[in-house]
Amino acid sequence: MLARILFDIALMSAIGVTLALIMVIAQRWLSNYGEVTVNINGKRDLKVKGGNSLLATLSDSQIFIPSACGGRGSCGACKCQVHEGGGPLLPTERPLLSKPEQADNIRLACQIKVKSDIKIQIPEEIFNIRRFPSVIEEIIDYTYDIKGITFKLQDGVTIDFKAGQYVQLETMPYGKVKQKVVRAYSISSKPEINDRIQLIIRLVPEGICSTWVHKFLQVGDKVNFTGPYGDFYLRDTEADILFVAGGSGKAPIKSMLEHLQEVGTNRKMTYFFGARTTKDLYLSEEFRNFENVFDDFLYVPVLSHPSAEENWDGRTGFVMPYFKEAIRDPQNTEAYLCGSPGMISAVTKSLIEHGIPEDKIYFDSFG
Ligand SMILES: Cc1cc2nc3c(=O)[nH]c(=O)nc-3n(C[C@H](O)[C@H](O)[C@H](O)COP(=O)(O)OP(=O)(O)OC[C@H]3O[C@@H](n4cnc5c(N)ncnc54)[C@H](O)[C@@H]3O)c2cc1C
Ligand code: FES
Repeated sequence: MLARILFDIALMSAIGVTLALIMVIAQRWLSNYGEVTVNINGKRDLKVKGGNSLLATLSDSQIFIPSACGGRGSCGACKCQVHEGGGPLLPTERPLLSKPEQADNIRLACQIKVKSDIKIQIPEEIFNIRRFPSVIEEIIDYTYDIKGITFKLQDGVTIDFKAGQYVQLETMPYGKVKQKVVRAYSISSKPEINDRIQLIIRLVPEGICSTWVHKFLQVGDKVNFTGPYGDFYLRDTEADILFVAGGSGKAPIKSMLEHLQEVGTNRKMTYFFGARTTKDLYLSEEFRNFENVFDDFLYVPVLSHPSAEENWDGRTGFVMPYFKEAIRDPQNTEAYLCGSPGMISAVTKSLIEHGIPEDKIYFDSFG
C-alpha cells in the first residue's frame, strides 16, 4: 500500500516537472522573435532582438521615451505613433488613448511588444534625452518624510534642461526588492547649474523607489538617471504667475524661482504652498527670502490641519479660497501646479472659475 502511494507521488512529481519543462521550452521558443527592424521617423533603422516592449527595446538602444510611471501603463507619457507592426490595440492601452489618438495609430510604447519589423514616429527632441551616470553628493533631511538629494554628474558631463522638467531615476535591487524600477522626479535645482542636479523626494509608504532613496541610498553611491523630460517648464513671457504646489511638488517651483533669480524678472508672482501641519513645512526661509529678491513675489504657506499647540497664525484650510486676493489680471496670468491628481483637478477647476485661461494652466501630476 505504502509503495503504491510513493509510486503515485513520484509519478505526479515527474509529470509536474515535465510539464514545467515543456512550458519553459515553449515560452523560449514562442518568444524567440529573432532579429527585427525598428524604423524610426522613416530615417533610421535599428536592428534589435524581438520580444521586448517597444519602450525597453528603444531604451536598450539609448533612445529614452518618457515613462513617468515606469512602464506600468498608468501615465500615458510613453505615447508614440506606430505606423506598422504594432499589432492590435491592447485592452491595457484603451483607457489612456482618446478615440482620435487611436485613429491616429498612437500607442503606448510600454505595452506593445516588438515581435516583427515595426515603423514608429517619435518627436525629434527625444533624441536629446540621455542616460547620466552620477554619484550621490549630498542628502538633506528637509522634513520627517522629505529629503533633498544631490546627484553629481560623472566624467565632466553636463545636463541641459528647462526649469520645471523632470528626470527618471533608475533604482538598484535592495532588501527584498529584486527588480529595478524607474520613477520620475522633478529637478529642484536651477538649470544654470549643469554639472549636478538636486531632487526632492517624499517617502511614499511601501513605495519601491522612495523607500530605496530614503532608507538605502547613501552619499557616494552610483546612480543612473535619464532625462530631461516633460513640457512642464517655465514659459518665457511677462505674464503674472501663480504657483500652487505642496509637499515634494515644491521641487520644480524651486528650480523655476532660482532660475528667475538668475535671469532677473519683474513678473508678479504668488506661491501657495499647501501642507498639513508645521511639520510639513520646509525651505521656508529660502522661499520667504524670494520676497526680498523679486519686486513682486509673495510666499503663502497654507496649513490644512494645524494643531492648537503649533500656534500657527498663518492661513489655514484649502488654498483655493485665497486665490482671489492673488489674481489681479486673470487673462494675463499663468499657473504652474504640481502635486496629486486630485489637487491638480480641484485647483484647475478653481483657477478656470477665476478666469485664468485653461491653456495657461500648466501642471505635472505626481500620481
Ligand atoms: C512628472 C512627475 C514628476 C514627479 N516628481 C516628483 C518629485 O519631484 N518628488 C517626489 O517625491 N515624487 C515625484 N513624483 C512621484 C514619483 O514619480 C513616484 O510616483 C513616487 O515617488 C512613488 O514611487 P515609489 O516607487 O516610491 O512608489 P510605488 O512603488 O510606485 O507605489 C507604491 C504604492 O503607493 C502608491 N503611490 C504611488 N505614488 C504615490 C504618491 N505620490 N503618493 C501617494 N501614494 C502613492 C501607489 O498607488 C502604490 O500603491 C513625480 C511623478 C511624476 C509623474
Ligand atoms: S510608461 Fe506610463 S503608460 Fe507607458
